[in-house]
Amino acid sequence: DELLDRRRDLAGLTVAVSAGGTREPIDPVRFLGNRSSGRQGVAVAAAAAERGARVLLAAANIERAVLDEAGAGVEVTPVGTAAELADAMGELAAIADVVVMAAAVADFRPSAVADRKLTKEAGGIASIDLVENPDVLKGLAAARAEGQTIVGFAAETAHGEELLERGRRKRARKGADLLAINEVGWALGFESEGNHLVVIDSSDEVVADASGSKRAVADALLDAVLAYRGQSSS
Ligand code: CTP
Ligand code: CA
Repeated sequence: DELLDRRRDLAGLTVAVSAGGTREPIDPVRFLGNRSSGRQGVAVAAAAAERGARVLLAAANIERAVLDEAGAGVEVTPVGTAAELADAMGELAAIADVVVMAAAVADFRPSAVADRKLTKEAGGIASIDLVENPDVLKGLAAARAEGQTIVGFAAETAHGEELLERGRRKRARKGADLLAINEVGWALGFESEGNHLVVIDSSDEVVADASGSKRAVADALLDAVLAYRGQSSS
């Protein structure tokens, strides 16, 4: 039956997903973080597992209730910082057919981490010196194994044609096969239940444009991954 077949259409594939948001420590009680809840990445993991894939999830600071939505079959590696996420994804990607970088990775981290709480008495914090983190997605794409599909996400506070143009430049910069572009804003994308994703491929074509629950757009993204793999293997 066609419906049942579609549900197992990722059988035999290993999918590595990163989700959530990394946190970069400032001192033992503070960090630089971002608003990613991990819901969209967890939805990709859950959908892939339900469709028959072996799913490996690097989970960056995801709330228990959200992580539980991944389902029992998903193998979870908890991570905190961008460096931990980079290490974990390096290991998971080494055995994956498909890599999905849905995590919001901190672009910068404090150049030094204080080993004691910074206090007002000791002068407070006038500014924080930052250094850039390595680009995990770019690294994984550069190390891509034959037949491996690398999928990135892009969070953009733009819309329409500018959103697409930014996405195209970003995909090219990263060397990803597919990029799922997500419009974000103060009231868009983060805590919400639903999402809107536009997926572009390496010929700059829009191969999916999906709105709905995070699970529904996850399925649309996985459909695009399968179609892309079908094309590049023939
Ligand atoms: N990403 C990554 N490593 C980083 C930063 C981002 O792997 N150090 C990945 C994200 O997981 C995502 C993609 O790159 O899949 C795009 O992330 P995004 O923040 O939209 O792009 P940046 O290249 O960081 O550009 P900017 O934030 O300046 O728009
Ligand atoms: Ca970024």
